[in-house]
Amino acid sequence: MAFPASFIDELVARNPIEDVVGQYVSLKRSGANMFGLCPFHGEKTASFSVAPDKGIYYCFGCHKGGGVVNFMMEVEGLSYPDAVRSLAKRAGMEVPEDEQYQSRYRQQERLWALMKEAGRFFYQQLYAPAGAKCLEYVAGRGLSKSIVTRFGIGYAPDSWNALVDAMRKKGYTDKELRDADLVGEKNGRIYDRFRNRLMFPIFDVRGNVIGFGGRVLDDSKPKYLNSNETLIFNKRKNLFGLNFAKKTKQPYMILVEGNIDVVTLHQYGFDNAVASLGTSLTEEQVTLLSRYTEQVVLTYDGDEAGQRAAQRAIPMLEKSGIQVKVLRMKDAKDPDEFLHKFGADRFKLLLEDSANRVEYQLNAIRSKYDLRVDDEKIKFVQEAAELISTLDSSVKREVYGGRVAESAGISLDAMKLEVNKAFKRRMARERKRQEKIDLAPMQALQPKDRSIRYDNMKSAMAEEGIIAQVIREPALLDKTGMLRGEDFSVELLGRVFAQLQTRHKQGLEVSVAVLSELTAQEMSHITGICQKHQGPVNEDAFHDCVRIVLNEKQRSKVSSDDDLLALQKKLMESKGTKG
Ligand code: UTP
Ligand code: MN
Repeated sequence: MAFPASFIDELVARNPIEDVVGQYVSLKRSGANMFGLCPFHGEKTASFSVAPDKGIYYCFGCHKGGGVVNFMMEVEGLSYPDAVRSLAKRAGMEVPEDEQYQSRYRQQERLWALMKEAGRFFYQQLYAPAGAKCLEYVAGRGLSKSIVTRFGIGYAPDSWNALVDAMRKKGYTDKELRDADLVGEKNGRIYDRFRNRLMFPIFDVRGNVIGFGGRVLDDSKPKYLNSNETLIFNKRKNLFGLNFAKKTKQPYMILVEGNIDVVTLHQYGFDNAVASLGTSLTEEQVTLLSRYTEQVVLTYDGDEAGQRAAQRAIPMLEKSGIQVKVLRMKDAKDPDEFLHKFGADRFKLLLEDSANRVEYQLNAIRSKYDLRVDDEKIKFVQEAAELISTLDSSVKREVYGGRVAESAGISLDAMKLEVNKAFKRRMARERKRQEKIDLAPMQALQPKDRSIRYDNMKSAMAEEGIIAQVIREPALLDKTGMLRGEDFSVELLGRVFAQLQTRHKQGLEVSVAVLSELTAQEMSHITGICQKHQGPVNEDAFHDCVRIVLNEKQRSKVSSDDDLLALQKKLMESKGTKG
């Protein structure tokens, strides 16, 4: 189920990793490697490395790594064949299409086409006689005709078969309708899943319709019915409105809760609004956002649930290097209501007023305590000091410390003392954690990925050395003597070694980038090994590694043979006493 190896080799050769990665990350050379900010996790110092000579990338921070194909899969969220296709296109190469891949790709294309047709159908129904009351609802919610068109908003008629019939007429099969999650099924018959609902198409970043969110026209429950995951729809990895918002000229995005909030914001000229898809914000969505903006204004509903969601989102966004501000909604429950009540200019004022996350969190802490009670005042100061001690700039610590001191009515010096104490407490905690790690070096050497375990550490370290060195110097593969993949104690490393050995024998490229049939985690692990073992290749050291692996293998065999011998002896003895 693969593309021919020679094709992949050429593809990799014609797409230098530093060029491809360079389109997403600005890289600076440092010796044999290039470094930049990791596109997969937010960070302020460059721990993302690219090794042009080895054709790999590896992040020392989040431990993701691989070759140029893995990079495209990861950064664009593509499947393996799609990543290959896009690189082929980039290098102007013809893709030898494999049956299975081709059929999966065709299946995806059919689903995209079907979803688009379905969206068109819902849109038309809004203006058909059956859609009259939905159109009325839309008008009642203050949505303009042009925004309805722009977002492709529609109406799913109150019928069990309107969509099914229309799509069958267009040539779509029942299986395709099921695969797209547009229908339910009972007694072997399919029926329209979305009925009598206001329909919001959900687009991916590239503008394909990948799902729908359908809202009831009254107060009945459930308020929304959403598409479930399909071959083309993953709600963790998409954001409602991002296909439009990504084109904004604003340097920030407005993150809201509701679909309607997004639409109304865009209608009022805020073309940078997005929402997560009826779930709480996911890591994947944060990563996606960080690709398009460096700043987010959280505009969650004013109710308790909304505020809790904001508290949860803040550290997620910040970890990703996104600067967070939090807008406090006044006199309205959400942006949609606010805009209709007070208009765009007033909302702009709210945006300008939106507090940075420290102010926001300080306010949240303060609202928990009654500052007229001494006990509570002390708790407020301590908790606030804890927060302030996490700030990385002394100016910020001074400014916010000053504010807390003022509202608690204590001196600036007392506050500083309190912040210092909090800082020391945190450092002590941190040190303890580090000590625990240092006390368990074996634990520290274990792969970060839990699915890969090193049982024989001595052998595993030698095996890592072998892999890292033959990748740098494939000629070493002629000097491995009788070493085989099966001799390795770590199955994955043995498998990789065997693959490299075979390729070398066949005169094919020996590199990490061309390894096949590895999972993303396995690939990351292998590139990690190559980037960690940076020293020059040394034949003696290499032979030591080989010897260690063979010895360890022998030892484990002998010890199990010993066990066998001992067992046999025991058996014989017991027979002897009986007989
Ligand atoms: P809201 O209840 O705020 O909905 O839920 P809304 O879109 O703002 O609609 P109005 O203003 O009440 O008319 C926020 C988001 O949570 C998801 C939807 O994506 C919705 O847009 N949600 C909500 C669901 O998925 N299912 C539900 O039952 C409710
Ligand atoms: Mn709402």
